[in-house]
Amino acid sequence: MTDVRKPQARPARPFFSSGPCAKPPVWSPDKLATESLGRSHRAKIGKTRLAYCIDLMREMLQLPDTHRIGIVPGSDTGAFEMAMWTMLGQRPVTTLAWESFGEGWVTDAAKQLKLDPTVIRADYGELPDLTQVDWSNDVLFTWNGTTSGVRVPDGDWIAADRAGLSFADATSAVFAYDLPWDKIDVATFSWQKVLGGEGGHGVLILGPRAVERLENYTPAWPLPKVFRLVSKGTLAEGVFKGETINTPSMLAVEDAIFALEWAKSLGGLDGLKARSDANAAALDKIVADRDWLSHLAADPASRSKTSVCLSVAGADEAFIKTFAGLLEAEGAAYDIAGYRDAPPGLRIWCGATVDTADIEALGPWLDWAYASLNA
Ligand SMILES: Cc1ncc(COP(=O)(O)O)c(C=O)c1O
Repeated sequence: MTDVRKPQARPARPFFSSGPCAKPPVWSPDKLATESLGRSHRAKIGKTRLAYCIDLMREMLQLPDTHRIGIVPGSDTGAFEMAMWTMLGQRPVTTLAWESFGEGWVTDAAKQLKLDPTVIRADYGELPDLTQVDWSNDVLFTWNGTTSGVRVPDGDWIAADRAGLSFADATSAVFAYDLPWDKIDVATFSWQKVLGGEGGHGVLILGPRAVERLENYTPAWPLPKVFRLVSKGTLAEGVFKGETINTPSMLAVEDAIFALEWAKSLGGLDGLKARSDANAAALDKIVADRDWLSHLAADPASRSKTSVCLSVAGADEAFIKTFAGLLEAEGAAYDIAGYRDAPPGLRIWCGATVDTADIEALGPWLDWAYASLNA
């Protein structure tokens, strides 16, 4: 018999959304530095803070000097589309899709840019056959599919001698995994995921071969100002030093700096990864102990450690909605229903800003919601 009594203890911070994700545990708005607010972002203070944010990101990501990193408009989508619009079209394109966001890049490549890409797909919960990728093509993929909880296990499948460029949408992957930067020509992310920062800005990382493409290739289509990274055939280097294309939110920048300093206090990337790994392991234990819960991503090697997607035996969309609603009303878990395009299920963020004790405290609440709905 399942126990329908309400658990005594709630997660202290019931924030399990997969984006925007939980703030760092020590965060509060009055701890943000505000000297750069109400000032020109091109004043010394603004430029200094933007450059500091970039330096901290480089350090926390362990990004080598070969790669540039800059802050751009439009969150992760803006950064990824900026890369697509400025660099694609020179050679054939392959796009990989195994969930909603990868599918979005397929739509961009096929319907908007009309590039007739080769599309390699897999169903929700699975990874496509990565050995099929032809690296003479430019290749677009999502490192961690946030809506299915499936990620590429590593970069071994990316050819070291590729002629095409690799474009990684890495928004739910950075700060949670070791990324092989020598295999990545373009990567993008937004602060709103593993850092628990704000949306609005994207981060664009360019390897040397991407810069070479930008400087030597002009796409056939027009580029809006917010996508322009090249001026008179030369990379706009200022973007990678904090001279943003247009006006940034300095509040979002200060918030990102706070999260990055927190990350640094944990020991940087290793500290962040350790938290995410511990969270994913705690959730895995909850799943293993319950016959009505299972991972959507069957293969542990390609299972996400950030956006963990779970199937609930017998649940349809309405069941999940009620289940998640019950937990939200109790203040036990916010935003844990799966993504709207994914098979009905739960999605529980395990990135570094979530505390492991809160994942552990969630287990009895999942039991309670399941038992209440089946009572
Ligand atoms: C893999 C992936 N790509 C892109 C996006 C879009 O991100 P943003 O809303 O920051 O543009 C998301 C958001 O959840 C995502 O998970």
